[in-house]
Amino acid sequence: MKIRSSEIVMSAVNRDQYPAEGIPEVAFVGRSNVGKSSSINSLLNRRNFARVSQTPGKTRTINFYLINEEFFFVDLPGYGYAKVSKSEKAGWGKIMERYLTGRDELCRIYLLVDIRHEPTNDDKAMYDWVKYFGYDCTVVATKADKISRGKYQKHMSVIRKKLGLADEKIIPVSSLKKTGFDILWDDITNTYSE
Ligand code: GTP
Ligand code: MG
Repeated sequence: MKIRSSEIVMSAVNRDQYPAEGIPEVAFVGRSNVGKSSSINSLLNRRNFARVSQTPGKTRTINFYLINEEFFFVDLPGYGYAKVSKSEKAGWGKIMERYLTGRDELCRIYLLVDIRHEPTNDDKAMYDWVKYFGYDCTVVATKADKISRGKYQKHMSVIRKKLGLADEKIIPVSSLKKTGFDILWDDITNTYSE
């Protein structure tokens, strides 16, 4: 994919702040710190476009990035960070539910999980939630540089099992090594141009 332009259009909390043009959206969701913002940067070949956090849980709003004036990447707030208060968790739930309810523009959600670990119960709940809302969801396994290539299949089968995937693909990526993003791009392109 040739990136001609990318710009942040909106950092939204409420529905009336979402872009209104009816442009297709591709969203990224996952635990805090899993690498959502880094993956968006890697896809766009930019360093500090989507903000990467030193402190987990930093992306607190829904960030809409307009790409080539054709579609949006949507960076959703992360979950599962221990040091978050109850009211913040409830706030996160509301922000997510508001966005996921009947969002016609949303054509695909990528659920990011860390390739090293079995997905958490939160990840499983997120996956089921997204399916419940009726969206297509593809799993991306991040930080693939942290294990050797020979171990990919073993780790991906753990992920597959926990999330209850059948033969759906999992896409391993590494923002550090910049690997896997060509495959992810192919998948994204198929999605929004369908
Ligand atoms: P929140 O916005 O808090 O939900 O986090 P996020 O999912 O956007 O994660 P972010 O991209 O901010 O990355 C979190 C940390 O993981 C940063 O310190 C990144 O440098 C690191 N990281 C992200 N991707 C990779 C990767 O592929 N490999 C390695 N080794 N580190 C990564
Ligand atoms: Mg982030």
